[in-house]
Amino acid sequence: MEKFVISGGNKLYGKLTANSAKNSILPLIAASIICEGVTEIENCPKIKDVIIMCEILRKIGGKAEFSGDKLILDTTDVFSWELPTDLTGEIRASLFIVGALLSRFGYALMQFPGGCKIGERPVDIHIDGLRCMGATVTCSDELVFNGKNLKSQTVTLRFPSVGATENLIMSAVKLKGKTVIKNCAKEPEIVDLQNYLNMRGAKISGAGKDVIEIEGVDKLSSKKVSFTPSIDRIEVGTLLLSASAVGGELEFDGEMVKNSYSLMKIFENNACKIYNNNGNIYNIEFKRRSLGFGKVVTGPYPDFPTDLQPQLVACACAHTGLTAVEEKVFPERFSYTEQLQLMGANIDLYKNLCLVEGGNLHGESVVAGDLRGGASLVIAGLVADGETQVKNVGHIDRGYYKLEEKLTRLGAKIRRERY
Ligand code: EPZ
Repeated sequence: MEKFVISGGNKLYGKLTANSAKNSILPLIAASIICEGVTEIENCPKIKDVIIMCEILRKIGGKAEFSGDKLILDTTDVFSWELPTDLTGEIRASLFIVGALLSRFGYALMQFPGGCKIGERPVDIHIDGLRCMGATVTCSDELVFNGKNLKSQTVTLRFPSVGATENLIMSAVKLKGKTVIKNCAKEPEIVDLQNYLNMRGAKISGAGKDVIEIEGVDKLSSKKVSFTPSIDRIEVGTLLLSASAVGGELEFDGEMVKNSYSLMKIFENNACKIYNNNGNIYNIEFKRRSLGFGKVVTGPYPDFPTDLQPQLVACACAHTGLTAVEEKVFPERFSYTEQLQLMGANIDLYKNLCLVEGGNLHGESVVAGDLRGGASLVIAGLVADGETQVKNVGHIDRGYYKLEEKLTRLGAKIRRERY
């Protein structure tokens, strides 16, 4: 097992860097199965979720290897629509392969997917959407999908589920006629998926808006495609919230925050200074212990992302005054707060509302329980008095590539140790 050992108090200065978005790359790996060819994904972090998804692809006949920070996928020889039982339960994104398998083979079989323990992770929106399009789905101890009678259809999601939107897009790309998905997710990751599939000859429009339309095509092109997903807005947000907690000044390219409007709005109202350096380069200066963030409500994009909620709470613990965070996507996503309380955080929970009274944090030995909860403990360690040990960093490695190196480059005192 590995842990981060952090000495708190160092401000962060320097240039913000981040990889391509984990939550774009995972559905893109799934989507590459629909065509029988080579896909190169640029600036791809070697994070655990990507490694597991590549392992799943290999087990059904695909090829996946890294060449530097480029992930090279070859799905020519994918031969099976049965996902490996030992891996699908490791990650949530295994579920996103179903739509691609239905497009390629008409069938899919898998165990229930895994994913961070952040509350209920049901799959009903995926299943209802596919059933509405004519699939038959049986769910016992495994999920079996028969998509031989899939037809283009108008589907309205009861909640704008990111994964379900992605699954339905992938299952519809080769269906004769027009499939319409209403109340769909609008995350930038959906736009990446649309752009990648359209590079392969699909006819998808509307990603990023409330309605997505897919005109079916006979076949996707199998010529080699190189795709650069959007920058990981959650990694960028995590690093910005780290600097907001400890103070300092970061330089960033405007492109990096184009999908982070809700976070940048919070910063603008929170006494930090953002100024334009030259062209598209900006600096953001954070004062230590500035005012809390007031009321923040998470929600589907473009609202404040649930995947930054734990990091925002940790940052609020280091400011002064009150912050109230209402979690509307995963209402139980607060298990990490117990660990923050060990560090002296003043946090009260009322169902899906988290009240934070900013104060002082002290170093402690704490344990990461999930990906973003683990990131919040790192932020707390960066600002706490003394030394903090964050154990079980395997959770953090699922979604951040060498986080300790990125933070060290910005001036943090953090190292990785085995225990
Ligand atoms: C994706 O998960 C992301 N994961 C999550 O990121 C992210 O938190 C989430 O979208 C919301 O933005 C990946 O892309 C791999 P949802 P997903 O379906 O698709 C409920 C991270 O930290 N729901 O949009 O599983 C669900 O319980 C991870 O990077 C159903 O009820 O999320 C939740 O309350 C964590 N039935 C809400 O919808 C379903 O069939 C949103 O879930 C599906 C979802």
